[in-house]
Amino acid sequence: MSRRLLLVGIGVGDPNHVTVQAVTALNAFDVLFVVEKGEQVDDLVAARREVLRRHRTPQAGPYRTVALPDPPRPWRTAPDYASAVRRWRAERRELWTRALGEHLAEGETGAFLVWGDPSLYESTLAVVQEVLADDAPDVSLDVLPGISSVHALTARHRIPLNRVGRTVQVTPARQLAEHGVPAGVDDVVVMLDAHATFASLPDPEAFDIYWGAYLGAPDELLVAGPLDAVADEIVRLRARVRQEKGWMFDTYLLRRR
Ligand SMILES: C[S@@+](CC[C@H](N)C(=O)[O-])C[C@H]1O[C@@H](n2cnc3c(N)ncnc32)[C@H](O)[C@@H]1O
Repeated sequence: MSRRLLLVGIGVGDPNHVTVQAVTALNAFDVLFVVEKGEQVDDLVAARREVLRRHRTPQAGPYRTVALPDPPRPWRTAPDYASAVRRWRAERRELWTRALGEHLAEGETGAFLVWGDPSLYESTLAVVQEVLADDAPDVSLDVLPGISSVHALTARHRIPLNRVGRTVQVTPARQLAEHGVPAGVDDVVVMLDAHATFASLPDPEAFDIYWGAYLGAPDELLVAGPLDAVADEIVRLRARVRQEKGWMFDTYLLRRR
C-alpha cells in the first residue's frame, strides 16, 4: 500500500484541451486538494468544475475535497520582504503537509488540478516537491502535462513559437518592464502582465505582437499586428474587458521584425 499524488495540467480554459492521460487521472483520485487564493475568480473556479463535470465519470465514484487556504502573500513593500516570503512559504508548506497527513490515507490517490501546464509559472509543483521530500517521502508523485497558455496562444494565432534555430524567451512582465527585450533575443513570450507592459517598449516599430486573453474560454480575445499599430487598441480592449469581468489573464508573443 502506498499513497499517490497527481498534479494534473488541465489547460487554460478549454475542457477540450485536457489530455487523455489527464482524463484517466481525473477518474483516479479519491481526494481533490484545492488551493484557495485570497480573491477567488469565479470564472476560474467554474472552469475547473467544468473540467471535472465533463471528464470525471459517475463510475469513478465520489471524492473528498480538501481546501488549502493560501496564507496572504507578503506585500512587496514589507520591511523585510525576503524573510516575509520565507515565512509565507513555510506556512504554506506546513498547511499542505498537515493536509496530506490528515486527509490522504494509505492506498489513496490525491490530485491537484493545475491551470495550464504544471511546470510553467506555477508554484504548486515546487511546494509539493518540498513537502514530499522533507515530510511525506512515502507519497509518490506524477506530473501530467497540460496545454499551457503559451501553446494555446500560438495555436490560436496559427504561428510557430520559435523561428528556425532561434531562441525564445518566456518572461514575467516585470522583467520586461525592468530590462526590456534582451539583446540577442528576438522572440519573447510575456506572462503575468498587470500593466500592458508591451505599450511602454521604447521601440514598438521593431516588433509584431501576437496577443491573447482568456485563451480557450468562450470569450477569448485575439489581436495581432505591428506593435506600433495595434498597441493602443489592445490597451483599450484590455482595460474595457478587465473592467467588465473584474479580472484579466493575457499572454503575448513579441516578435522582432
Ligand atoms: C500563474 S500563471 C499560470 C500559467 C499556466 N501554468 C500555464 O501553463 O499557462 C498565470 C498567467 O498565465 C497566463 N494565462 C493563464 N491562463 C490564460 C488564459 N486563459 N489566457 C491567456 N493567458 C493565460 C497569463 O499570463 C497569466 O498571468
